[in-house]
Order: sequence, then structure tokens, then C-alpha cells
Amino acid sequence: MANYLVTGSAGFVGSSISKRLVEQGHNVISIDNLSTGYLENIPEGVNSIIGNCADPEIYKQLRGVNLDAILHIAGQSSGEISFDNPINDIQANTESTLLLLDLCRKSNCERFLYASSMSIYGELNKTRVKETNKTKPKSFYAVGKLASEYYMDIYKDFGINTTSLRLFNIYGPGQNMINLKQGMLSIYLAQYLHHDKVLVKGSGKRFRDFIFIDDVVESFIRAINNKASFNKKINIGTGKKTTVDSLLQKISQILEINKEVSFGESTPGDLFGITANIDLMNKILGKWHHTSLDKGLKKMIDSLV
Ligand SMILES: NC(=O)c1ccc[n+]([C@@H]2O[C@H](COP(=O)([O-])OP(=O)(O)OC[C@H]3O[C@@H](n4cnc5c(N)ncnc54)[C@H](O)[C@@H]3O)[C@@H](O)[C@H]2O)c1
Repeated sequence: MANYLVTGSAGFVGSSISKRLVEQGHNVISIDNLSTGYLENIPEGVNSIIGNCADPEIYKQLRGVNLDAILHIAGQSSGEISFDNPINDIQANTESTLLLLDLCRKSNCERFLYASSMSIYGELNKTRVKETNKTKPKSFYAVGKLASEYYMDIYKDFGINTTSLRLFNIYGPGQNMINLKQGMLSIYLAQYLHHDKVLVKGSGKRFRDFIFIDDVVESFIRAINNKASFNKKINIGTGKKTTVDSLLQKISQILEINKEVSFGESTPGDLFGITANIDLMNKILGKWHHTSLDKGLKKMIDSLV
């Protein structure tokens, strides 16, 4: 049994990872400020601290606790919202990372995993981007995520084994269906379920790499004690391209609902298209059977209706 600090356990990804770790018999401590998460999302068995990861005072509550790893999942997760409040974004995504890396160093915890994002690549105008491709963030959110990775590189020299998982578009049961500025699939699905019309911000020709939540959880679980992942940045996606148009069609078919779809201006910092090259992910984390978009979407819809 290991001791893990998982930040963001009241949110979509953090709650799913924490649940798996508790099921595996580990001791999970969580920090979440409930800014977008919900208390009821925190899985049973998790020792929860309600507080801000960007507040140094919060870490006093962890004095004397021996941590085997920190999984920093909490954060402001919307590119669009980062333009509304860049200061909040940098605190939630970057200051928090710096403080948690410092906690690692001071508490002799040698393992740090981070929920980074595909957005750090910016508009490369190509599919299957590799970890070695250049990064050119287009949003405050992406700048903060990339800065976090640079901080991790510095702490590597202090003996901390860091891994940054560059997550592509995640979807699945437990995703926030109320916030229409966060997520992509969840935004369209929420509108199909609860609105008269569907408004798409940007072109229907845009494309993404949608990865099911269980596969993201699996990637973190496989990475925790995996020495080959130490000090690496790894794309976590499927390598498959789905356009917004085809996603809308799938949602409409599964729900058997036709709705008027209108297209508006794209949001600031939005990327036209991106998919992951997952060679490194397969090599380091090993292959497993990924949930297809059709099956994952069905599971998500079944969890909602
Ligand atoms: N969902 C995706 O498609 C996606 C893709 C790439 C990267 N990510 C990253 O994965 C992480 C989790 O995303 P998510 O989809 O679960 O989002 P989410 O909003 O559902 O969860 C984030 C959680 O972090 C908490 N939080 C935010 N700021 C905090 C702070 N300063 N201190 C403590 N808690 C704080 C929120 O209350 C929430 O519970 C984020 O860092 C996000 O940037 C997500």
C-alpha cells in the first residue's frame, strides 16, 4: 500500500484516478478547492482536504505525511476561461505545480506526475503530433501548462522523477455537463440533451483526438511506478481523428435526437485540429485495448439518461 496525494479529486479526471487508487488499496489524500469540482465526486475512502493548491498554507496540513507520489491533476481546465481570468489560470495551473514540486523536494517525495495538455503544441497544422514537435501555446491555459513542464524539468535536477502526461480530449461518465466552456464532447452532448439548439463555436471541420476517461486513468496508473516514464513528457491520446461534424452526427444518432445546429465564432486560442502520435505512450506504458469513441460515447450517454 502506498501513500498518494492526488489533487483535483472532486473533478472529472482526479476523482476517476483517486477511485482506482483507493480500489487498489492505496491511501489517497486529496486537495481540491471545489472551484469546478463537487464534494460528492470525491470517492469514498479518500482523505479530503478542501483548499487551494496555490496557497502555500494548505501544505501545513501534510506535515509529517510520507508521500510515495504526488499526482497533480487539479487545475483550471478550459482554454476559453483562461482568457477571462489569466491570473486565476496561472495560479491554479502553474503556481500550484511549483508549490507541489517544492512539497516533493521538502518532504523527500521522489515522484511527481502531472496532467498536462495537448494544447501546449498550439496550431501545428498536422495530425499525430509527437512529443518532440515544437510547442507554441495559443492560450493562457496552454502557456501555464507548458510553464509547469519547465518547472518540472528544473526539479528533475533536485532528484524528483517527474512525468508529464499530455492529455488530449478526455470524455466519459463523471464529466461536468453544466459548464459549457469546458470540454468539447461534453458541451455538445449537454446541448443535445438539455438545450433547444446546438451552438458550435468554430468550424465543424475542426478535429480532435478523443480519449475515454478509463484509458486516461489507466495511463496514470501504469506510469506511477514505471521508471521508463521518469522525466518524460508523453502524449495520452488514441491517434484517431474525429471531426466536430462527425462527432455531432454520432451524438445525434445514439440519442436519436435531431437538433438545429448553428456555427458561431470560434473561442480565443482554440486549435483547428490536433491528434496524438502515441508511439511513445505505447512504448513506455505498454499497449492495452482502448475504448473506441462509439463505445465510450454510448457508455457516457447511458450514464446520463
Ligand atoms: N478534460 C480534458 O479533456 C483535459 C485535457 C487535457 C488536460 N486536462 C487537465 O486535466 C486536469 C483535470 O481536468 P478535469 O477535466 O478533471 O477538470 P475538472 O474541472 O473536472 O477538475 C479539476 C479539479 O481541480 C479543482 N481545482 C481547480 N483549481 C484548483 C486549485 N487551485 N486548488 C485546488 N483544486 C483546484 C477543481 O475544483 C476540480 O475539482 C486539469 O489540470 C486539466 O487541465 C484535462
